[in-house]
Amino acid sequence: MPDNLHHVAGTLIIGAGLAGLFTALKLAPRPCTVLSPEVVGTGASSAWAQGGIAAAVGLGDTAEAHAADTVAAGAGLVDADVALSVTAEGADRIFDLLAYGAPFDKDSEGTLIQSKEAAHSTNRVVRVSGDQAGRAIMDALIRTARDTPSITILERVVVDELAVAEGRVVGAFARHTDDPMADPVLIRADETVLATGGVGGLFAVTTNPARVRGQGLGMAARAGAVVVDSEFVQFHPTGMAVDRDPCPLATEALRGHGATLIDENNHRFVFDTHPDGELAPRDIVARAIHAKNLSGGQAYLDTRTVLGAHIYDEFPTVAQYCTEANIDPVKDPIPVRPAQHYHMGGLQTDERGRTSLEGLWCAGEVSSTGLHGANRLASNSLLEAVVYANRIAQDIVGRPRPSKVAPLHLPAPLH
Ligand code: SIN
Repeated sequence: MPDNLHHVAGTLIIGAGLAGLFTALKLAPRPCTVLSPEVVGTGASSAWAQGGIAAAVGLGDTAEAHAADTVAAGAGLVDADVALSVTAEGADRIFDLLAYGAPFDKDSEGTLIQSKEAAHSTNRVVRVSGDQAGRAIMDALIRTARDTPSITILERVVVDELAVAEGRVVGAFARHTDDPMADPVLIRADETVLATGGVGGLFAVTTNPARVRGQGLGMAARAGAVVVDSEFVQFHPTGMAVDRDPCPLATEALRGHGATLIDENNHRFVFDTHPDGELAPRDIVARAIHAKNLSGGQAYLDTRTVLGAHIYDEFPTVAQYCTEANIDPVKDPIPVRPAQHYHMGGLQTDERGRTSLEGLWCAGEVSSTGLHGANRLASNSLLEAVVYANRIAQDIVGRPRPSKVAPLHLPAPLH
């Protein structure tokens, strides 16, 4: 085998956030190789998620109610069948995550504690230590993946291009980040899964890691995959206006908990736009704050009355950001501004997680499944990631194995 060709057994997964690792775990014991551009867990957007995972696991809640909220938030563009099929799988995927070691908050009777977030009709977001869901879920999955013999994780490896032969994706051209000038190596696999995240790093103000700049979307588009709704970009209403890049997030769960949005005159101005005020859908709240800023005003998230000093133990991540910015949230409201947060557009993805290219699946933010429409409902992103990761694994495991390796006629990778 020439030096620049590696053949991996089974599936190549590009990206090691929640969608990538969950796919790998669900594929087990079928072998797979996961490529991570950094040491796993240090740079994925999933680890930065604060709120948690929306799922109808609470008493009296239903998949139908969760789907209805998803459709209502999505600005008329959610695929209602997709919404119901995804919300119906929510509880099973939460149980999977518990089995993989995710330490979701429970009460003294062992029942999952669920938070409320904007545009949800009930408390529905499964969380960890208040606002630490992303980090804690990722830590659990990384531990489990490292202990799973069928999963090989290659760290500090970036992918430049997908490899396409005879109309089918057959792997990817990759490089080690320690050796950026080296020729890319072709990693060949039976199936390729993209789980490369969104586009946040392209924006001046984002809550995402700066490295995440649509690389996966770009390489799939160059290989000929269909991209849909690429203009559907979500801005989170309450990025913290503290002149820091990436912009620290003040989770929507704070508003679900009763924190208010006020202006410099102590006026709860979002009620001027929508009867649900702070708990209106995210796009509406973000626009109201943007309009406030454009008119020369300033928006603040006020946690003083509802949380006081409890913010330190109930929302430790946000409290830490405040400390780092010399804000005392017990005495002062937190200045906020909208910040790019999520890309609803992406690679056209069917109900099994297949893209329009033979041999290429995708999950997580790089995908566009029809679940989010033009405005994602809070905490539906991690849910979508695990639901589609599971479906992809089922689809791949159920496929007939290729009887022979197809000959390769590959173009040279782009640089
Ligand atoms: C948040 O915690 O406000 C973010 C949740 C999400 O983006 O769904």
